Amino acid sequence: MEACYPPQYQAVFPRIPSNPTLEIIDIQKVADLAHEAGARLVVDNVFASPILQKPLDLGADVVCYSATKHIDGQGRTLGGIILSSAAIIVDELGPFLRHTGPSLSPFNAWLLLKSLETLELRVNAMCDRADHLAAAMSQAGIDCLHPSLPGFKQADLAQRQMKRGGTVVTFTLPGGAQQAFRFLNALSIIDISNNLAIAAALPPIPGPRPIRRWMNRPGWKWGSPRA
Ligand SMILES: Cc1ncc(COP(=O)(O)O)c(C=O)c1O
Repeated sequence: MEACYPPQYQAVFPRIPSNPTLEIIDIQKVADLAHEAGARLVVDNVFASPILQKPLDLGADVVCYSATKHIDGQGRTLGGIILSSAAIIVDELGPFLRHTGPSLSPFNAWLLLKSLETLELRVNAMCDRADHLAAAMSQAGIDCLHPSLPGFKQADLAQRQMKRGGTVVTFTLPGGAQQAFRFLNALSIIDISNNLAIAAALPPIPGPRPIRRWMNRPGWKWGSPRA
């Protein structure tokens, strides 16, 4: 870390946990290193959600969310949230937002505010299922990653820093992309999209990002040509 962040850098911007490998970085340690180097620590807390991990309490300067994920939770709107001190939000970010206009519509902001009322319930329900799924898959011999698993290489840090293991389970199928596409095509309840942590329990896609109009063509399957 010290070698990576000489003083000319203004910010360190990790995703914690990372997508999709679920690597966890010690926020307190990285905040200290960043501050020593005169940089700010900006944490993408999307995978943990505000329910499981509180980077501002651990020394981060800024926390950001894709509210499209857990916070909306129902695939209704895109949105983003930036949390920081009043000085950063009002003095630094405020003029940028005012001049460039990336603001939510009042209706979308209302949707996201309503969603916060059920966020904790939804995240905990998703964590219950993720714990269960990860345990069942690793018992079945599938190469599986989830912070709740005893063999997770950063289990200690995960327990210290996060309330629970999170809502995403990552696994590798031995048959590579072919088997991954067969698996995706066989799903009947889970929907396929490039979102996560919403009600349809979406699996991320190996390879290029999906576009729904391809998927809606009759007979189209994952792994088939796009023409
Ligand atoms: C960890 C993480 N952060 C940020 C994003 C960006 O989300 P959005 O496209 O809604 O801004 C994603 C998208 O998958 C993500 O997985």
